Amino acid sequence: MLQSPHKLSNNDKLLNLVSLEDYYDIVRELGRGTYGRVDLAVHRESGLQLALKSLCKKSTKFKDFQRECTLGDFLSVHPNVINSYDVAFETPTAYVFAQEYTAYGDLFEAIPPQHGLSESVAKQCMQQIASAIDFIHTKGFVHRDIKPENVLLFSPDCSIVKLMDFGMTRRSGTHVRKISGSIPYTPPEICQAVKNEGFYVESSQDVWAFGVLLFSILTGNFPWEAANTADAYFLEFIHWQRRKTPAIPTQWRRFTPRLMKCFRKILDIRPDKRCAIREIYKYLGDDWIKRENEPLLHSETFRRYSKSMDELSVLLEAHGVNTSSDAKGRERMTSEWVLTTTETFNKRSADNIVAVGTPPEYRHQYRPALAELEDTRDHQNANTDMTANEGHKFARKILAKLKRSKEILSTS
Ligand SMILES: Nc1ncnc2c1ncn2[C@@H]1O[C@H](COP(=O)(O)OP(=O)(O)O)[C@@H](O)[C@H]1O
Ligand SMILES: [Mg+2]
Repeated sequence: MLQSPHKLSNNDKLLNLVSLEDYYDIVRELGRGTYGRVDLAVHRESGLQLALKSLCKKSTKFKDFQRECTLGDFLSVHPNVINSYDVAFETPTAYVFAQEYTAYGDLFEAIPPQHGLSESVAKQCMQQIASAIDFIHTKGFVHRDIKPENVLLFSPDCSIVKLMDFGMTRRSGTHVRKISGSIPYTPPEICQAVKNEGFYVESSQDVWAFGVLLFSILTGNFPWEAANTADAYFLEFIHWQRRKTPAIPTQWRRFTPRLMKCFRKILDIRPDKRCAIREIYKYLGDDWIKRENEPLLHSETFRRYSKSMDELSVLLEAHGVNTSSDAKGRERMTSEWVLTTTETFNKRSADNIVAVGTPPEYRHQYRPALAELEDTRDHQNANTDMTANEGHKFARKILAKLKRSKEILSTS
């Protein structure tokens, strides 16, 4: 039975009950979480591509949907916060709202595991994320779920990023209960709390998560599994942090003394002593990684993968991707090509439509192309004049898209 229309916000907007399929073509799933899913959809009337976030009515209270949707809208005036469209409706099973779509995925997919992003790219990202968080804090809110999965890329080289997912966002000072377990980004004061224990939402909690993100983006690793003393890595860190030993913890030795000074302030165990997010701005002009650490990382990785680069170039050329352009252009074209392939598959399996704008001569090649690309999956990690890190990023992007196409194929 249809429910009576809900009021979306204070300015008297009511939610319409609609059937999604009447207005949108769902192209593919972009992500899935505990409370619902995000799909790439095309608004049939306008042809506009957007990301529809659907929160399952069974597990989501209307007021939680309303909060996430209106907060996202309110905060979207910042250039590094995802834009939202003035679209919110309900279906018989879900509450739905729309946000701008990006084809470049999230930051988690872009960080090469065990290596991290280059220092300059990491700086660009962290500056933009800090700016978005600072804005949220000045408005009196705390994001509460800072992690790379909640940062979207709006350019293939990570030079434009936007923060999203306001499902956990609350006003600073709100009393909440601990409902989920700890992840590497959870601050120690919350790790300590037991399930259902109450605590107050503070901006310092975002600052801690930002510090963990800074470590992760520069290394491709987490500094610890959880910020509690049962974790040996965390224990090593707090010994240094509390000045019980001058020895820098093993994983942190690649960072310059200047960045370690910054980490000391961001990752202060005492929430009331932790710095504000804008502290990071003071360190953006400094070197972050010790010089001797960078070339080693690059040459080692490069040697390992250089042979396979030629094979990858031949394969991409065979599918119309011009590999003689510069590294960035090639990465963009490859990523676009793989994406088109994925979307075409998805559409075909959904309603037998072939993607518009895809050159017809490539259409029959999709299946073999994906198989071939997959065969070379162990060799995709570099391209002759890409740096090792760019190569990694490139390969991870392809693999992520491939994985999606394979899932689509196996269910079609
Ligand atoms: N606008 C978007 N464009 C592209 N991908 C998106 C978009 N929104 C979400 N995603 C993908 O979906 C995932 C889940 O979205 P999110 O809003 O964080 O949901 P949840 O609340 O379940 O974590 C993200 O990590 C990202 O990979
Ligand atoms: Mg999320």
